[in-house]
Order: sequence, then C-alpha cells, then structure tokens
Amino acid sequence: MKIEAAAKDDLKALCEIENGLFDKNSFALTQQNFLYHIKKNPLFICKIEDKAAGYILLLTHKKSAKLRVYSIAVKNEFQGKGIGLKLLEKSFAYAKKTGKKSIKLEVNTTNYHAIRLYEKAGFVKSGIASNYYPDGADALLLEKLL
Ligand SMILES: CC(C)(COP(=O)(O)OP(=O)(O)OC[C@H]1O[C@@H](n2cnc3c(N)ncnc32)[C@H](O)[C@@H]1OP(=O)(O)O)[C@@H](O)C(=O)NCCC(=O)NCCS
Repeated sequence: MKIEAAAKDDLKALCEIENGLFDKNSFALTQQNFLYHIKKNPLFICKIEDKAAGYILLLTHKKSAKLRVYSIAVKNEFQGKGIGLKLLEKSFAYAKKTGKKSIKLEVNTTNYHAIRLYEKAGFVKSGIASNYYPDGADALLLEKLL
C-alpha cells in the first residue's frame, strides 16, 4: 500500500472512487473539482498494487491552526482493511508537519461506519450543524487535538 500526493494522472481514478460512493446530487466532487484541489490543496491517494483504493482531501488556511478533512473515501471492495485509518494518519502527519494544532471534520450523523472510524482515530465531538446536508440531515462536528 502506498499513500502519495495525487497528480493529474489520478483524476480518472479519483472520479471512479467518488462516483462509486457518493450520490451525484449530494456533495460528490467532479473531475473539475478534483483538478482544482490537486493544484491548490493537500489531496492524498492510496494505491494498492497501483490500483486506486481511496483518497483524503484536506483544506488548509495559513491563518488557521486547524486542518480540515474535507472528504475521505475508500472504494467498497477495499473497505474494512484499515485504509481509512491510514489516510487519517497521513492527514495527522501532514497537520503536524505544517504546524497545525488540531484537525476537524463534519460527518452525517447517520454515517455510523465513518463515525466509528473517526472515534477510533481519536476525534471527539465539538458540535452539531443542523440541516447541514442537501437532504436536511444534520452533521456531527468532530475534532482531534494534535
Ligand atoms: C468511512 C470510510 C472512509 C472508512 O474506510 P475504511 O478503509 O473502510 O476504514 P478502516 O478499514 O480503516 O476502518 C477503521 C475503523 O472504522 C470502523 N469501520 C469502518 N468501516 C466499517 C464497517 N463497514 N462496519 C463497521 N465499522 C466500520 C471500524 O471501527 C474500523 O475499525 P476495526 O476494523 O478495527 O473495527 C469508508 O467506509 C468510506 O469510504 N465510506 C463511504 C464514504 C464516506 O462515508 N466517507 C466519509 C464521509 S465524512
């Protein structure tokens, strides 16, 4: 398994991961979105024997001491093998390297698998954002101090 910064060559694979998991009408990222993030933001892709298995997209602002996990996804056939946790660990390493004090994210309150993963990785609840998603679902706000 290797986790590396995503490049333009990974665009197709990133879209395949995304479209296999997220409803196109929700917050699914498009090829154009991925291209933008590859240029502007930390975006790491996990490959297993050169097959793309998952990615994590981070948002960072110079003035903020917090790094944000904007999106994390692992292809169905690769789930449950610890890749999600490895991608989060990559984000912790990136946050520390860039001097951030904490890492935060939002997750649908009904996304139990993801919430378990985040709790296992050391995130704790920092709040709730009501009506956060397009379908009106609430988001759980989680944060991990580094
Ligand atoms: C959430 C997601 C990224 C997890 O990736 P993953 O590679 O399967 O996660 P891991 O294998 O590292 O799992 C780590 C822990 O998370 C929890 N977990 C993950 N998937 C689970 C599942 N299907 N059932 C129960 N618990 C699960 C477990 O606590 C697991 O630890 P354990 O195996 O020791 O019990 C993946 O399921 C995914 O891409 N889901 C769809 C997209 C999504 O919801 N992204 C998050 C949006 S905020």
